[in-house]
Amino acid sequence: MPDRLRASPNFALSQSADGRSFVIGEVEPYPQYWLSDRERLLFALFGADGGMDVDAALEAMLRIEPAGSREEIAEAIADMREAEVLIAPEAELSRYGREMARDYLDHRPFPPAIAARIADLGGIGPETRVLDLAAGPGSLALELAKRTPHVTMMELSRGFVEAAQEEATCRGLQLETIHESCNRLAQVDGSFDVMTISQAIHWLDDVMLVKGVCRNLAEGGSFFVVHGSLTVLPQHPLSYILGDKTPLGDKKAGTFSDAVRPLYKRISLLFDALDAPDVDRHDPLHARQRGGQITGTRIDLFRQQRPIDENFARAFLSDSHISALGQDREGFWLDLRRRCNAACADDLFGWQEFALLHFQRGAERLDAADWVPLKAEQIGYPG
Ligand SMILES: C[S@@+](CC[C@H](N)C(=O)[O-])C[C@H]1O[C@@H](n2cnc3c(N)ncnc32)[C@H](O)[C@@H]1O
Repeated sequence: MPDRLRASPNFALSQSADGRSFVIGEVEPYPQYWLSDRERLLFALFGADGGMDVDAALEAMLRIEPAGSREEIAEAIADMREAEVLIAPEAELSRYGREMARDYLDHRPFPPAIAARIADLGGIGPETRVLDLAAGPGSLALELAKRTPHVTMMELSRGFVEAAQEEATCRGLQLETIHESCNRLAQVDGSFDVMTISQAIHWLDDVMLVKGVCRNLAEGGSFFVVHGSLTVLPQHPLSYILGDKTPLGDKKAGTFSDAVRPLYKRISLLFDALDAPDVDRHDPLHARQRGGQITGTRIDLFRQQRPIDENFARAFLSDSHISALGQDREGFWLDLRRRCNAACADDLFGWQEFALLHFQRGAERLDAADWVPLKAEQIGYPG
């Protein structure tokens, strides 16, 4: 156990109608941890800025409840630690950490062709204010920063935020960063002409995300969602971990468009519900009419053949994926390397499909049911 702990910002403190306290995770499956009175106090103590020394918390608790035993309090701390309600102050909040950043930047580059389409559809020029959400180590944000010096990225992983800042400096680009959960976007009070989220919407509370977009998207502004899907053939040496059926989960049957349409519909419905200035509400921000409602207007499909090898796997699979498999890190990577080395180079390819969903204030509406998917545009690697 670390000497110092802090209350995890990935859990929000809440209270049931009968006054019992619990903390709840922000994202499906919304894990709940019910707090005893003792744990409620511990959560408050460790909630101090920068956390608290475990020994100091134990002493404080013994002063608050002199009848309590040190062992019982230590046990409560250990339980909260195991549930990740308490974490080390420097702990990563995201499953993605600093150790993956270099591989991510080098081997999961954001396709420049899709960045160019975003820039084109969003009318990005030197004055455009851009916010890239759940930006990872900055792959898309840095592509857009080539076109405007007003790019900000918001990301939960401390390691990725640091890596993105360093990469921006190294490439001579301007990049602002916000180290915060995008589930708290509604608490950002900004105004952006283009907002983007790539390969991450499934990690977020999309109701909170859409509320935040409604609040921050400027008049005429565009919001882009990039959704991706990976395909490797069953004979690919990494299909046991990156294929359609793996211990990490099964890919849904059906075409890529079958997955894109409901996603587009869901986000469109959320905008219809939440960006509805005609509905009488008390919130004055709600009535802030800025150039029309946000509506879904277009979907573009892309297909990219690319190497799917150890480099890609290192940019894709985090330690938490590996521990979900019940394997130790070193053994997992040794085995994966052995499989890749045994394959011939031509077998180490796969396909990434991408959908670019475009929502815009005041745009002409495209209903999900009316979307006729066109053949995906082929893009090269890195594109
Ligand atoms: C697959 S990566 C996508 C990165 C980048 N957008 C891209 O397309 O390459 C998912 C990212 O979402 C971030 N993420 C997950 N939950 C988040 C949250 N609540 N707030 C902000 N970022 C989050 C992760 O830390 C990770 O960097």
